[in-house]
Amino acid sequence: MNMKWIIATNNKSKVKEFHKILPPLGIQAQSLAEAGISLEVEETGVSFEENALLKARACCARTGLPSVSDDSGLVVDALNGAPGIYSARYAATDAECNARVLREMEQVPDGEARHARFVCVIACVLPDGREFTVYGECHGQIAREERGENGFGYDPLFYAPEYGKTYGELTPEVKNEISHRAAALRAFAEKLKEMGIKQDDE
Ligand code: IMP
Repeated sequence: MNMKWIIATNNKSKVKEFHKILPPLGIQAQSLAEAGISLEVEETGVSFEENALLKARACCARTGLPSVSDDSGLVVDALNGAPGIYSARYAATDAECNARVLREMEQVPDGEARHARFVCVIACVLPDGREFTVYGECHGQIAREERGENGFGYDPLFYAPEYGKTYGELTPEVKNEISHRAAALRAFAEKLKEMGIKQDDE
C-alpha cells in the first residue's frame, strides 16, 4: 500500500516548499488542505521541538496517517534569540513582523553583529507510536531593509552574504537547496532510511 504522508501545517508557503523538496527524497505527501482535513493546533510548547511534536501528534491522532510537521523561525543573535518560537506571532502580519525586527535592529552595526539563523524542526509521528524530530538551520544576516518578492515571512530580511542576496531575492530553487527546511528535510529522509522506514511500509 502506498499511503501518502500528511504534512501537518496550514502554512501554504511551507507546503509549497515541502512539495518541492520531498519528492526527490522519495516521499509523497499531501497537506491537510489537500486531504480535506481541518486541524488547528495551539502551539503551547516552549521549544521548536515541542511545538513540532504537538502538531504532528495531533495530525496523526486525527488522520491515523504518518504525519510530518514543521516548526520553524528566525533566531537573531542581537535580539537574544528573538523572535524564535514566537516568529509567527511577533506582530499581527508578516509585514509588521519584519518592520518590528528592522526597528529593533536599527542600532546594530552591519556585518556579523547582525547574524541570524533560520531554524527548522521537523517532527514525524507514525500510527504505530514511533516518533522523532530532526533539525536544520541556515545562517545569514538581518538586512537594513526588505528586499525581494520571493519566499515568505522573514525572507526579504534574511541576507545570505555568500549570494549577495536576501532569501526574498533568491529563486525558490536556490532557497530550497540551502534553507533550514531543506536541511531538516534531508535529515528527515536520512532518519527514515536509518530506521528502515520506506514510504510503502506505512
Ligand atoms: P510556525 O508556523 O509556528 O512554525 O512559524 C513559523 C514562522 O517563522 C513563519 O510564520 C515565518 O514568520 C517564520 N519562518 C519560518 N520559516 C521561514 C522561511 O523559510 N522564511 C521566512 N520566514 C520563515
